Amino acid sequence: APASPIRGGMRSSASRLHGARQTAPALQRWGWRRAAEAGLAVAVVDPAVGRGASWAAAGMLAPVTEAHYGEERLGALLVTAATRWPAFGADLEAAAGTGIGYRACGTLVVALDASDRAVVDELLAFQHSLGLAAERLSGSECRGRVPALAPGVRGGADVPGDHQVDNRRLLGALQVALHRAGGRVVAGRVAGVRTDPGGTATGVRLDDGTELAAGVVVVSAGADSGRLGGLPAGALPPVRPVKGHILRLRGRGGAALLARTVRGLVRGRPCYLVPREDGSLVLGATTEERGCDRSVQAGAVHGLRDDARTLVPGIDEFELVECAAGLRPASPDNAPSVGWSGVGRLAVATGHYRNGMLLAPLTAEALVALLVGAPLPAALEGFGVERWSAPSPAAAARGA
Ligand code: GLY
Repeated sequence: APASPIRGGMRSSASRLHGARQTAPALQRWGWRRAAEAGLAVAVVDPAVGRGASWAAAGMLAPVTEAHYGEERLGALLVTAATRWPAFGADLEAAAGTGIGYRACGTLVVALDASDRAVVDELLAFQHSLGLAAERLSGSECRGRVPALAPGVRGGADVPGDHQVDNRRLLGALQVALHRAGGRVVAGRVAGVRTDPGGTATGVRLDDGTELAAGVVVVSAGADSGRLGGLPAGALPPVRPVKGHILRLRGRGGAALLARTVRGLVRGRPCYLVPREDGSLVLGATTEERGCDRSVQAGAVHGLRDDARTLVPGIDEFELVECAAGLRPASPDNAPSVGWSGVGRLAVATGHYRNGMLLAPLTAEALVALLVGAPLPAALEGFGVERWSAPSPAAAARGA
């Protein structure tokens, strides 16, 4: 049976949370269909379904170019997550009867000047130390592989394992597949989690007063995930919004300028150009600590456009069709939190930060395992909610 509205109507807003009844739950966005197919009654509560950070995103599936110093464990998780994508994508397309634009196109990393080149070389050394595939290239080798690059590009690296999916087609396919599997979407903003006198989660309360009962509640509310009401302090992971401006361009005559993703450093500023099958381009993205501000600022838009056209001058011929800003759900360690919380029957799947698309299939797999009582994928060990309640190293050293 679907999660049942107890009273009141619903209205639209910005946070989302998924609930379901019986032994089953609700899942992180990606797991809706998997949970519904596993026989679980799923209701996804979202004020504007599929229009959050995952709508703004570029859809890069980038375990190599998103590998960063000090994040080796997260890097290993991303590599495992990437292995799930081909089967997940094919399976979803079959279930939804529609394409999702998964492209194993690879990525070219480029550096504009000598100091950008030094940074790219350092990253390359780090990627090699992790056993990741990336080939150092000269400037002319870069242009040989991507002729649209500016003559001034100093060099870069070919990263054959970083791919992409069309995030908006993906979101559409997930909704069709969820519907076909018997899941439902409730339009509304979750104000808080309902609990019984023993503190166990029993459902959610929307901000218009509607209440939904659920056997299990899964918090997957994007950048709002750390601040839902009705729960004891510390029950949710410390997720914060990190803003990203992103642009969408359409090519004249549908001609594709690029055949693969280009990620570049332009005088120290990162940017990326992600080409879609239809010849359009996604240009991203800023990384800004501005709280919940979703406004689109002229300076950020011009900065992204200027950096992108410095690397690929041909984008000047494209039509600018969208300027947007999304809020990444970020954790202090940039890694996701997936698993049961300290509150009974309350699970969490959030904090995916820059890698929500890449981590989607693995997160879905993990949540279904959690909810049917099976072991979680080994790759997610150590990425649970409990890591946020552990004493800090300083406190541990003091014996606190
Ligand atoms: N994954 C790219 C970004 O977050 O901008």
